[in-house]
Amino acid sequence: MKTANFLNLLLAVALVLLCAELHFRRGASPATSVVDGRTAQAPAADQPTPAPEPEPATRPFHADAPIMEGPLPPPQRDEMPLGEALAKRRTDREFSTEELTAQELSDLLWAASGFNRRDERKLTAPTAINRQEIDIYVCRRDGAYLWKPFENDLKRVSEKDLRGLTGRRGANRNFALDADIALVYVVDWERQKMQDRPDDAKKYALVDCGFIGQNVYLHCAAAGLRTVFLGSLDPAAIAAELGLPETRTPVFAQTVGKAPRNP
Ligand SMILES: Cc1cc2nc3c(=O)[nH]c(=O)nc-3n(C[C@H](O)[C@H](O)[C@H](O)COP(=O)(O)O)c2cc1C
Repeated sequence: MKTANFLNLLLAVALVLLCAELHFRRGASPATSVVDGRTAQAPAADQPTPAPEPEPATRPFHADAPIMEGPLPPPQRDEMPLGEALAKRRTDREFSTEELTAQELSDLLWAASGFNRRDERKLTAPTAINRQEIDIYVCRRDGAYLWKPFENDLKRVSEKDLRGLTGRRGANRNFALDADIALVYVVDWERQKMQDRPDDAKKYALVDCGFIGQNVYLHCAAAGLRTVFLGSLDPAAIAAELGLPETRTPVFAQTVGKAPRNP
């Protein structure tokens, strides 16, 4: 009887030791997770917890205020059902000069290619191999701005009106000059990391732009805005004005604005 008790005790001690060993191993060898196409190491249990990702700054003034450099208000989601937005999606080439509010621009840019899964750093638009290689520039009368999607922030990069470098250039009337906004989609070929496969690089980048363009089309349908996706733009002139290095190319543009008051 005493021997059986002793054996039970020994078994219990062995079990406790085994559990402790398993627990220690889990803490000592961090799991891996894939973020932005790279393998990221989760912090070990004995390392300090990293600071949480910053939430996008909120604009210090009212969302109806005019757009200028700095943080945009947090985006709001479209309420129109997808089927209705699809039914309304269309190209328009007549616009009013009325400006979008900061809130309208924030909603537009989030729909275009904002972070919808911030913890995974993933976007509303897919990109091949999740390279996220398309930068969006917002061109307005008062200059051009680079949109930083994670911060939802605008950084002014030119004080010139570049809208006329998109759309029907040379025509009597370029509709791109009527609308408030010309979005310019710029591919960062270095971020895409496909220099050894130039055909795939081009194919993927153009498709990635197309997804953004369709997001913008659907958002405009839902938000009562007008838009036209544009293959006609002057990439060299825009690149020069934006101060882009050779590794970044404007590939498409998209006019966004409001309907004329009396069309
Ligand atoms: C890749 C691509 C390039 C385009 N480029 C231009 C353009 O340079 N100028 C223009 O006025 N429309 C352009 N469009 C808009 C098309 O003309 C428009 O989508 C087409 O006429 C169909 O009309 P919908 O969008 O109303 O269905 C382009 C569309 C796509 C998909």
